[in-house]
Amino acid sequence: MTVLQEGIHHGPGMSPPGHMALVFLRVDPAADAPVVDGVLRKAAAMLRALAAGTVPELPGHPVPGGNLTFLLGFGPKAFGIPKARRPAPEALAPRFRFRSPRPTGGGPLLVGSGLSYAADVTRNDATEEFCLQFTADTQLAVARAVVELWKLLRGERDGTTRTAPLEIAGIHTGFQRDDLRSWIGFHDGVSNLDSADRERVISIGEGEAGTDTWTVGGTYLTFLRLTVDLEQWQDLSRAQQELLVGRDKLTGAPLTGRDAEGRPVPAAGCPVAGTTEVTQPGNEAFRKHGETSDPVVAASHVHRANLVPSTDPDQAGSLRVFRQGYEFFEPAAAAPGFRIGLNFVSFQDSPDRLLRLLTQRGWLGGVNFGGQPGPDAPAGRLLSVRAAGTYLVPPVQDGAPYPGAEVFG
Ligand code: HEM
Repeated sequence: MTVLQEGIHHGPGMSPPGHMALVFLRVDPAADAPVVDGVLRKAAAMLRALAAGTVPELPGHPVPGGNLTFLLGFGPKAFGIPKARRPAPEALAPRFRFRSPRPTGGGPLLVGSGLSYAADVTRNDATEEFCLQFTADTQLAVARAVVELWKLLRGERDGTTRTAPLEIAGIHTGFQRDDLRSWIGFHDGVSNLDSADRERVISIGEGEAGTDTWTVGGTYLTFLRLTVDLEQWQDLSRAQQELLVGRDKLTGAPLTGRDAEGRPVPAAGCPVAGTTEVTQPGNEAFRKHGETSDPVVAASHVHRANLVPSTDPDQAGSLRVFRQGYEFFEPAAAAPGFRIGLNFVSFQDSPDRLLRLLTQRGWLGGVNFGGQPGPDAPAGRLLSVRAAGTYLVPPVQDGAPYPGAEVFG
């Protein structure tokens, strides 16, 4: 039997735990599939034990596991490792990949998208052979998983070259918010997929797998580390911000149009009496936005990101994806002294869903966040990309040492 890996918190009533780390692993050019297989077996066994509270150096002295989960993803390069036994799945073919940043920094993420790399980004670390996603209830549990992984890989170093077959080449961390909002101040995650639809959107079926039948039951993870330029956002009025997002800033109610003065009009009756926010019980009917004849509201982020809310999510053309993002905050040398944004993580049965969402006209195509296309529109440069990649998340197979082991073992 095949099932999705853990760490995709999609079940009814589930929400992602508080902390996440995404680690990108680079494979030494001298390492072949059997060598990589050996290291992945050890890493998977160590991480499984760690989730149960066993730290390798502290046998018999368990620590709190923090509900650690780990998920292993294979990037396109993983299938180029010498002696790999499977070719890259069709869904990871070059036409489904993000562009690289320019060697001098910046540059478009995709032809047809309004997203670009940040001007100081010259290297995208989300292109390495493997990614590991850790989630846990505590910051310590995810950080410890990264550190213990580093120790394990250190132990694999060659005495002469001092290089291990796998090395950590990039780490991105993030957290959930208990205010259910995002750095732009609006509610986020209000209109994710209904839990009943999630598995059908996430899980690779026979139709999507095509000749890559071994991927059935797995999924594709797409990652975008997006910085939000708060200088730009704070310059906009509340009404401008609401029209770009498509929701009322305070209540989260979806907008239906504008009044005679051009001010945003939220859906009547939302939030329902006795509540103050759309996230509270009783407001379920308002979580998804409805159709609108107002072109400004129709150009907002939520409308562009879900252009035809009535389409069956199972249909690839619905371009629905399961979002499991984690916000980030990091000190930075440049003003204002910090960088904030979103680790956008989505799971879907084909990367094509997300790529079309980002590039199709009427959807987010040509638009940086919402509103009209073009870098000079309000919020036209709100988001910039620091890393971007797509990874196959192979299904868990009964008895396999790690998901996707058949590629190398
Ligand atoms: C830092 C970047 C981003 C921020 C701050 C942001 C913020 C938001 C907010 C405030 C909402 C409305 C609340 C909700 O319905 O959950 C939303 C909805 C959504 N966003 Fe984003 N978003 C970002 C990037 C993206 C990207 C890159 C994509 C797609 C590739 C995306 C796809 C969606 C989708 C699918 C919805 C739900 C639309 C609906 O069904 O109503 N977002 N986002």
